[in-house]
Amino acid sequence: MEHRFIVVTEDETHFHDLSEVLQSLGLPVWLHWNTDMLAQLVGSLGTNIMFVEFAGENSQKATELTSNLLSVYPRLWVVGFAKRADTQLIREAMRSGARDFIELQSPPDEIRQSVQGILDQSPSLPAKSTGNMVTLLGARPGVGTSLAAVNLALLLKQEYLPEEPILLLDFGYPAGDASLYLDTKVGFNLCDAVRSLRRFDHVLLSTAFSHHKSGLAILSLPHNLADLRDISPVDAMTLLSLFKSYFKVIVVDLGGFAGMDLLMYALGISDQILMVCEQTVPSVFSARQLLHNLRERGFATDRIGLVTGKYDSRIDMDPAQIAQNLQMRLVENLPQRTDKMIACANTGRQLLEVAPKDPYLEALRKIAAAQCGPGDSPGLGNAASSRSVFGRWLAPLLK
Ligand SMILES: Nc1ncnc2c1ncn2[C@@H]1O[C@H](COP(=O)(O)OP(=O)(O)O)[C@@H](O)[C@H]1O
Ligand SMILES: [Mg+2]
Repeated sequence: MEHRFIVVTEDETHFHDLSEVLQSLGLPVWLHWNTDMLAQLVGSLGTNIMFVEFAGENSQKATELTSNLLSVYPRLWVVGFAKRADTQLIREAMRSGARDFIELQSPPDEIRQSVQGILDQSPSLPAKSTGNMVTLLGARPGVGTSLAAVNLALLLKQEYLPEEPILLLDFGYPAGDASLYLDTKVGFNLCDAVRSLRRFDHVLLSTAFSHHKSGLAILSLPHNLADLRDISPVDAMTLLSLFKSYFKVIVVDLGGFAGMDLLMYALGISDQILMVCEQTVPSVFSARQLLHNLRERGFATDRIGLVTGKYDSRIDMDPAQIAQNLQMRLVENLPQRTDKMIACANTGRQLLEVAPKDPYLEALRKIAAAQCGPGDSPGLGNAASSRSVFGRWLAPLLK
């Protein structure tokens, strides 16, 4: 994975100067002083090098930040930097625990060389974040991704981890469906959250984020998707990583999402990825297309498990056949429950309230259990074996 460096400075030009130099070595992420947030980000970004600006009146703050972070991450490699530095400043940085110091006015090659040297010798840090991210993709719109994400998140919040913070990222398209199913108005969206990145904390989380009555936190895309262009992609990615420090489980509805960079990033940091696909030729065809696109972008698609949406045993296209054709492992079948789903959607009620024992929920419970601890993952190793041969009539269509 690409290296990510955290750069702590209040001076945007200094961040840009340093970014330019570091560009070929990794992705610099710009942050202000906030020890708590930085401590969490070091964990979730898996950063092993952090650049802290030691300058004038800020050098006291920089010293404190450095020693605080080093007490949490003793192996973190803090590099002090300044536009220009004198011996006194460098000594101060070193005394707080910084292992290197660079001057922005040095030749870029020299800076790159010393950073490369650090990269070569510093071991990567173990991630400190504990949150589990489970992402649901849809082979195409309409296969049941949003409902699966909503019900999975609700099961986690209400049955499995009621005391823990759980987040549903309603990032599917058509936008806002998950919030609609939950009958929860979401005023604070992804763009708002990204703009608040530098003051992100538990207070913001409990006051600004929308919550379903179960306590489930929900964040949606902005109403006007064009607003996504106004936020920095790096900030959006940093925010997603940060969620893993604040929430025990994050369920992401990415069904039909078109913003590929953010999607790739969300997939990259997901702990489990499931793709919902129906037992229809068009659906399998789209699934194949999506897998192909992801592979083209360098993503290891063997990380994605298959979930059959609207499963009906009478349909002459067995989930195992679909899995075999797509070369995916079959994780679960979500039974077709048309009447129940429509009744719930139209009354704003949840299947969990109306029919808690419904087989649809029973299937999702197995996926939910897998989020609660290792070893408890029924269905996960259930690879689509060579149990059946793909239907003779279907195979040529999907080649
Ligand atoms: N298991 C199911 N059985 C029957 N209908 C379903 C099921 N899952 C979803 N649906 C229906 O399919 C439609 C699309 O569901 P949705 O979850 O919004 O799909 P997506 O997010 O993939 O577009 C809705 O009308 C929903 O009621
Ligand atoms: Mg949807």
